[in-house]
This record gives sequence, C-alpha cells and structure tokens, in this order.
Amino acid sequence: MNRASLDKRPDEVAAMFDDVAPKYDVVNDVLSLGQTRRWRRIVVDAVGAVPGQRVLDLAAGTGTSSEPYADAGINVVACDFSLGMLKVGKRRRPDIDFVAGDATNLPFDDNSFDASTISFGLRNVNEPKKALAEMLRVTKPGGRLVIAEFSAPTVPVWRTMYTEYLMRALPPIARKVASNPDAYVYLAESIRAWPNQDELAAWVAESGWDNVAYRNLTGGIVAIHRAVKPGRTAI
Ligand SMILES: C[S@@+](CC[C@H](N)C(=O)[O-])C[C@H]1O[C@@H](n2cnc3c(N)ncnc32)[C@H](O)[C@@H]1O
Repeated sequence: MNRASLDKRPDEVAAMFDDVAPKYDVVNDVLSLGQTRRWRRIVVDAVGAVPGQRVLDLAAGTGTSSEPYADAGINVVACDFSLGMLKVGKRRRPDIDFVAGDATNLPFDDNSFDASTISFGLRNVNEPKKALAEMLRVTKPGGRLVIAEFSAPTVPVWRTMYTEYLMRALPPIARKVASNPDAYVYLAESIRAWPNQDELAAWVAESGWDNVAYRNLTGGIVAIHRAVKPGRTAI
C-alpha cells in the first residue's frame, strides 16, 4: 500500500504522487466524470493573466493545470515536490518550466510573480497556511491568488449524494482504473477532512491576502477562492 495518511507527511505525500503519476491525468478525468476540464477553464479566467506575465502554478503535478497558461503565451512556472509527477509533465510538455520545490519553502524570490495559483494541491500540503504565506511572499503587490480545491456541497441532498459517491462508488472505480487505488481512498478522506468555503476564506485572509472571495462550482464540490496581495495593482 502506498498512500499518505491524513497527517500528510511530506515524504508520504510525495511518494504517493510519484506512484500515481503515470496514470494521474486519465484517472482524474474518469473520477471527476469529465468535470476537471471545465473547472480548469474557470481557474485560468480567474487568474486573468496576459502574455508577458509570470504565473506560479504551485503543486502543478504533471503540469495539466499549467498548460493553458503556456498555450496562451504566459510565462508559467510549474512547481511541485513530486519528482515523479514533474517527470511525467516534462516528458509531455518540455516547453514548460518545471521546478522542484516545496510549497512551504518556495525556491523563488520575493515579489517575483504576477499571480500565484494552486489547483487541487493545497489540501495535500502538510502546512497549508505556510503555503498561503509563501505564495503571498513570491507574488507582486496587487497580484492575484487563485485556489481551486474540493469543498463542501451547499445543498444537503447533493452533499449526501456526493459523500456516497466519494466513500462508496469512487474506491471500486479507482480499483478498476488506477494503478494505486489506495491513493484514491486518501483522496476521499482528505476531501472530507478539508475546511469548507468560509473556513478556507478565513485562512487566506489570516495569511495576509486582501479582497478574499470565492465561487462554488458544481454545487460546491469545488470552490475557487480568489484574493489579492495588498499594494499596487499588477494585473
Ligand atoms: C492532486 S495533484 C494536483 C496537480 C495539478 N495542480 C492538477 O490540477 O492536476 C496535487 C499535487 O500537490 C503536490 N504537493 C503536495 N504537497 C506539496 C508540497 N508541500 N509542495 C509542493 N507540491 C506539493 C503533489 O506532489 C501533487 O503533485
């Protein structure tokens, strides 16, 4: 078995993603019932970067969340601490700048990005508030933060159906399509243990970000949080 526990020990989390890397993207598409593509488009729109700007895509994994920026002529840096995920990404997209780095101790200068974004990564970081502070440090004053993460469905009947899907349907589907089904049990458990929309918004504000807001997607299965670094407008 190779899955992280809910303690999210960095070595276990990195090893688990190294393990799922070869089939990560295809399994993602299957388990999200094709929704990830739509969620990703909305994240890119929320970042609102233009060609010539530099965007940090943190916990970028295989770079699927970074690709739309590169395709639009934006200078995207895909940072992750799983060398297995980075290797798959670099093979597929040699044109993207993949950088090995820990979200809680980023290997970048202060104020060096026009925007920072993290998709389906913050929940896996051992100290998420430290990652929020690090993203604040490396983003230019006035620059944006955009977080996409699984969240809490807002309508009770939808929440019940989704919890059933996560806990009952997802593990057997994962056993059929994934190389490491245990990693997808971790996925279900970590989603359930993650703070809801308002709690995450409070964490973002406590970390020093301004104008924190969020919008729900697919009835709150995913929430997109946005914020701005205090200071001059960069985007
Ligand atoms: C579910 S994947 C998301 C990948 C990509 N952003 C996407 O949307 O497909 C989560 C990623 O978070 C990375 N991760 C978890 N903790 C991290 C940390 N402390 N520093 C850097 N990356 C981390 C994992 O290695 C993994 O690649």
